[in-house]
Amino acid sequence: MDTKPTDTPIIEIVRATKIYSPDVVALENVSLSIPYGEMLFLTGMSGAGKTTLLKLICGIEHPDKGLVEVAGKDLDRIKNKEIPRLRQQIGMAYQDFKLLADRTVAQNIGMAMEVAYQNLKTIKKRVIELLQKLRLEHKHDALAGRLSRGEQQRVAVARAVANSPALILADEPTGNLDSKSTKLVMDLFRECNKRGTTVIIATHDESIFKDTDHRVLELQSGRLLQQDDRTISALNNMP
Ligand SMILES: Nc1ncnc2c1ncn2[C@@H]1O[C@H](COP(=O)(O)OP(=O)(O)OP(=O)(O)O)[C@@H](O)[C@H]1O
Ligand SMILES: [Mg+2]
Repeated sequence: MDTKPTDTPIIEIVRATKIYSPDVVALENVSLSIPYGEMLFLTGMSGAGKTTLLKLICGIEHPDKGLVEVAGKDLDRIKNKEIPRLRQQIGMAYQDFKLLADRTVAQNIGMAMEVAYQNLKTIKKRVIELLQKLRLEHKHDALAGRLSRGEQQRVAVARAVANSPALILADEPTGNLDSKSTKLVMDLFRECNKRGTTVIIATHDESIFKDTDHRVLELQSGRLLQQDDRTISALNNMP
C-alpha cells in the first residue's frame, strides 16, 4: 500500500453479501469503489450494516458472496504472510473502542507504532502530539479503563491514526463526544486526509457531514442506496 498504483482504487467491493448465522443479512449486493486519498462518510440507521462494511474492509469479517479488494489485494486470497503488513496500513477506530483497559493511554496509542517497529523517541513524540490535538495531554499516564467514554473514544481515534496508516476506518468516532471534541476529532481526520490518507467514517451524526463536499453514502437494511458513477464504471469493467 506504500506505492500508490495510478488507477487502482484503494478499496474495490463488488457485489458483496454478508450473512451472519443463521439468517441475518447484514449486507446485500454492495458494490463500492474508493480511490486513494478520498474522505467518505458512510451513514444509515442503526443496524443498516455500517460496522459490517468496515469489518469487511479491514478483513475482520469475510463476505459470503462477492469480492473485497484492498490496495489491489483480494482479502480472501491474500497470503497469510502478507496480512500483518496490510493490517499495519489500516487504522481502525472501533465503535466499542477496544482499548486495553489495564494499559495507559500512551501505551494504547503507541501500540500500533511499536508493532511497526518505530523507534521509541518517535513514538513518544507522536503520542504527545496526538494527545495535545485531542486535548487529552493530562491523561497521558492514566489507565484507559479509568477514562470516561468520550475520553476513551478520543484515545481510540488517536490510536487509529498514530502510525499514519494509508487507510483510516472510523466507526462512529464522535458518538460519545460533545461538539467541541467532535470538532477536534474531525479536524484530525481532515488533516490526515489532506496528507493523502483515505478516510472512511461510519456515522449517524449528521452534524459532521451536513456541509461536506465529500461523498456521503447511505446504507439501508444492508443495501447501498446511491450507486455513484465511479462504482457503476467499475462494475461495467468487470468480466
Ligand atoms: N456478529 C453478529 N452476529 C449476528 N448478527 C450480527 C452480528 N454483527 C452484526 N449483526 C447484525 O447485522 C446487522 C448489521 O449490523 P451492523 O453492526 O453492521 O450495523 P450498524 O449500521 O453498524 O449499526 P449501529 O449504527 O447500531 O452501529 C444488524 O442487524 C446486526 O444485528
Ligand atoms: Mg455500527
